Amino acid sequence: MATPLWRNATIYQIYPRSFCDSNGDGIGDIPGIISKLDYLHDLGVKIVWLSPIYASPLDDLGYDISDYYKIHPDYGTMEDFEALVKEADKRGLKIVMDLVVNHTSDEHEWFRQSKDRNSPYHDYYYWRKGKEDNKLPPNNWTSMFTGPAWEYVPEVDEWYLHLYSKKQPDLNYHNPAVIEEVEKILRFYLDKGVYGFRCDVINQIFKETLEDGKGKSEQARGIEHYLMKEGNHKILQKFYEDVFSKQECVVIGETYNVDRENGIRFLKDHEMDMFFQFEVMGVDQTPSRVFAKKFKAESFKQLIYKWQKDIDWNANYLENHDQRRSITRFGDENRYHDESGKALGLLNLTLRGTPFVYEGEEIGMIDKKMGEPEDSKDVAVVTVNKIVKGYHLPRWFRRSLCNRLDRDHARTPMQWSNGVSAGFSSNKDTWIPVNPKQLDKINVEAESKDPSSVLCFYKEMIHLRETLPSLYDGSFVEVPTKGNLIAYKREKGEEVCFVVINLGKKPLSLASGFIPKGASVLISTYMDKKLPSFSLRPYEGVLLKVK
Ligand code: GLC
Ligand code: CA
Repeated sequence: MATPLWRNATIYQIYPRSFCDSNGDGIGDIPGIISKLDYLHDLGVKIVWLSPIYASPLDDLGYDISDYYKIHPDYGTMEDFEALVKEADKRGLKIVMDLVVNHTSDEHEWFRQSKDRNSPYHDYYYWRKGKEDNKLPPNNWTSMFTGPAWEYVPEVDEWYLHLYSKKQPDLNYHNPAVIEEVEKILRFYLDKGVYGFRCDVINQIFKETLEDGKGKSEQARGIEHYLMKEGNHKILQKFYEDVFSKQECVVIGETYNVDRENGIRFLKDHEMDMFFQFEVMGVDQTPSRVFAKKFKAESFKQLIYKWQKDIDWNANYLENHDQRRSITRFGDENRYHDESGKALGLLNLTLRGTPFVYEGEEIGMIDKKMGEPEDSKDVAVVTVNKIVKGYHLPRWFRRSLCNRLDRDHARTPMQWSNGVSAGFSSNKDTWIPVNPKQLDKINVEAESKDPSSVLCFYKEMIHLRETLPSLYDGSFVEVPTKGNLIAYKREKGEEVCFVVINLGKKPLSLASGFIPKGASVLISTYMDKKLPSFSLRPYEGVLLKVK
């Protein structure tokens, strides 16, 4: 069988609301995406994953779907979507959709109908009587966004479960009708020529019991009853048998807090082709995420190596619409913006697995200075802020916590130029403000003209990766190093590549013989193709060909 495309492609994630606005309403849209397909083609990515564009009240900015078969008018129409698939195809690009089926919006027709206890839709969701004469919720679970996971509805005289915001009621996967509905959605989009799905919080869909949770946390209490349960595996296997096994497509799981054992199972039984682990993203925070932890390249590297060794095929990423920008977190956005941006890019694009690049990552976009938590567009932060206010903690603490959790950082408009609204829109009022910090330098137009820019590095690296079987198909071999020095080999048959990165501000000396004899530089983050012999400059990284 021929190698499927997803095994050697780089995948680009678009957050449609913030990518490109074609009609000047300040909101990104599908025609805007179409107008940038040449840009994506040029960049060298082969698959484009779109965050949700379906009909939605936008409580969680599209991760709350009210109709899976309609496109949100902000983004365009179904015809626009079909045109996108067609135009992408002309350029050899495939489209991957976001599949959000742990929950729907509370404005979905199924949910509306479900409020009638005699309707077949009642059992599409978790409607239950509460404890203590229905005065208290059915159990003590708390939401992933903090706060209670149940909402009481007087007209039904029952409570419904929502692991996310109260506008995101959870679907009941004990009901076979729900599984059928999901398969119908999958087929609908595959028939439209879509290449696959990124499956939102897919390792939480099956609630094994509704017993009380053990933890004390305001967040995700009860998770032991629904994270990666046997029933979850079974449902994913069924999707594969009924739908995905019938054609070439890609299934990418967003698997919150996945562990090695379940990860191996997900791949072995074709439940998905690859998944996002969350451990690496936890490197700069405590497990509860309430406190920040100082970033250490050493721990970062060990976590990455661990997943490289444990899992045959990883979905590698350093950013997405839920994470803060990687240069701000793991690099140095002030003194070594370009250097650290390129070093992180080199890392992400040379690991074993499929690399994901999030819009703006390829130009080194950075976090934005946030205002008051109340002004955030992120429902998660608004919820956390409310809860934390109840604790009467110092204001600076609440602000800094919210700022750190705020997903708005990665959702500011894509920076196409240094013009009005960063070239994202002709309107100077955009749905979320542009990040003004270093905008004159961090934008597509400026970087395209500068051969040493982060953008030019990404472009070169993405293309290079496709020509080297050791990179897209080879094994991963750790080279033991200490501290900020990262080194590994990638091997396939006769071909051996060697990656060496200094992920820190200080120059690093290298032991003699560390760089194999006869090695040649394929690309370096300083763009000078200098073979490092004794030392590496700040955030210097090189990809070498050894054989
Ligand atoms: C996933 C999405 C996130 C969303 C949540 C609930 O984690 O990536 O943006 O808020 O699921 O759908
Ligand atoms: Ca628009």
